[in-house]
Amino acid sequence: MNYAAGERAMAEVVVKAEREYSVRITGDWRGDLSPIINKRARVAVIVPATMTSELPSFNLSNTEVLMIPVPDGEAGKSSLVLNHIWNELARNNFTRSDLIVAVGGGTVTDLAGFAAASWLRGIDWVAVPTTLAGMVDASVGGKTGINSPFGKNLIGAFHSPISVLIDSSWLRTLGDRDFAAGLAEVIKCGFIDDEEILTMLEGKSIKEIRENSSLVNSLIERSVSTKAKVVSSDFKESELREILNYGHTFGHAIERVSDYSIRHGEAVAIGMVFVAELAHAEGLIDEELLKRHRETLASVGLPISLANVEGSGNWESLFAAMALDKKARGNSIRFVVLNKVGECSRLESVTEEQLKSAYEKVLA
Ligand SMILES: NC(=O)c1ccc[n+]([C@@H]2O[C@H](COP(=O)([O-])OP(=O)(O)OC[C@H]3O[C@@H](n4cnc5c(N)ncnc54)[C@H](O)[C@@H]3O)[C@@H](O)[C@H]2O)c1
Repeated sequence: MNYAAGERAMAEVVVKAEREYSVRITGDWRGDLSPIINKRARVAVIVPATMTSELPSFNLSNTEVLMIPVPDGEAGKSSLVLNHIWNELARNNFTRSDLIVAVGGGTVTDLAGFAAASWLRGIDWVAVPTTLAGMVDASVGGKTGINSPFGKNLIGAFHSPISVLIDSSWLRTLGDRDFAAGLAEVIKCGFIDDEEILTMLEGKSIKEIRENSSLVNSLIERSVSTKAKVVSSDFKESELREILNYGHTFGHAIERVSDYSIRHGEAVAIGMVFVAELAHAEGLIDEELLKRHRETLASVGLPISLANVEGSGNWESLFAAMALDKKARGNSIRFVVLNKVGECSRLESVTEEQLKSAYEKVLA
């Protein structure tokens, strides 16, 4: 939905989950945030310690603003850091009507969202994602959480933000590797729902994409629309929401065996090629669509094989990691597969031989 000329937001997508909220693609996140925080007595801004200098000073006469810097990346998604946030909120007398604002990548929106979900059984929060993965995926959909020493994202809650403010100018400083990792989720939305995304990316290098801000904004809007549509009809992942996990079962296994040495989006890219091989072997998709997976992902610099992935030469550990993935139900591992672009189905009761055969096709 496009905004009228003169308004700050370039587009707005509405999510209908346990509450209704809007995701604004805006050229001015500060301007959009001001009216939201002005109404609150206290606001806690949770931000990676490495990014505090990039924030404006929020000088507000009626609102007390508390900055809570947190460790960057996955290190921030820990019970220790969460405990620190709870203590800061307690020391500053945060009540049910106060607000948390998360400014950062997906790790920060996950952590801050969970702090908001757990403080006083749930207070409001706003997401200001600063990475592409955060914009198109982590900040939308209401999944919040932290890691446990036993695994990623094991502790968490569904708790939607009251607003998501996406300003793609943050992306100027993002490294190519993180940008490409975010594009993996964009491409996933193209395969599971919106072919136009694939057409828009066709033949473009990462440099060409990054230089074209209106293309970047359109890709963000389209991906957010796909996620919003799915989440709005299945907030708690009983069935449909599973399609957002396209490529993720194998992707999570790769992340685990490589001890998280590769980006989530890189693992998902290889996972999508793996699952396309599986679907092709089952006769669900043709050679052309399988090739389209490899070409689209490779053209933006994403990995399409396990060639440089630590620990991935050991099939047994990858298979064990897939069986442990939370998408496994009972004893069988379920896979979201495509029938064609924009149409998904589930593959259940897949044998280890079938999986190993797809694995061998992504080995080199
Ligand atoms: N809740 C969900 O539905 C959901 C969905 C997908 C991913 N996630 C989570 O998101 C996390 C991954 O997100 P991510 O890739 O954003 O990781 P991240 O938060 O670790 O950010 C990646 C890196 O980019 C840096 N960074 C952030 N903004 C920047 C900017 N504007 N310029 C330069 N550098 C910047 C960060 O400091 C960090 O080093 C994972 O923990 C994953 O589990 C959650």
